[in-house]
Amino acid sequence: MLLPTDYWDESKIKVMIDEELLQEKIVQLAQQITDDYQGKTIHLLCILKGSVLFCADLMKSIKLPLEVSFMSLSSYGDQQESSGQVQFLSQLPPELKHQHILIVEDIVDSGLTLTKLTEVMHRELTPASLKIASLLFKPKKLKYPLNIDYLGFSIEDRFVIGYGLDYAQKYRNLPYIGVLE
Ligand code: PRP
Repeated sequence: MLLPTDYWDESKIKVMIDEELLQEKIVQLAQQITDDYQGKTIHLLCILKGSVLFCADLMKSIKLPLEVSFMSLSSYGDQQESSGQVQFLSQLPPELKHQHILIVEDIVDSGLTLTKLTEVMHRELTPASLKIASLLFKPKKLKYPLNIDYLGFSIEDRFVIGYGLDYAQKYRNLPYIGVLE
């Protein structure tokens, strides 16, 4: 445990990616997605809980017919290391069948979550296309090779919080990505 979770002390948090840089990158990603999906309806699949802020900001800047669905998955629980298992806390949204799906993730760490999820999605949903957008990626932690189609930032192997990412379920509300000192 690095910090008690029942009080608020931003002085212990070092900013890794500030709000301005985050927002600038998200607009760029949205522009790229808008260009790539011309003539199509895009279905975002927001992976809860960590992706909620990224997905909300990303979709605001995508200029296309767009639908959004949500899935709740967990591989970390309240731990800092992956449990090695992915829990499907909700079912695959059936409305995604045969659609152009873009999975929206906050972070790819070991790659386990998205490897398992995309396997199941290909099998159960036979999507017209299936791509991945991730705000963050830790190349040094990757164990399950994965192609990230739209990537925000590759980062070093530090435990990061904020902008959707938690420490024991707290700190998701920070508007930037930070590291607990
Ligand atoms: C985090 C994150 C990704 C996953 C990435 O979820 O949101 O879904 O871990 O790790 P991986 O590449 O090693 O699988 P977490 O289980 O912490 O759930 P949360 O989003 O609800 O915090």
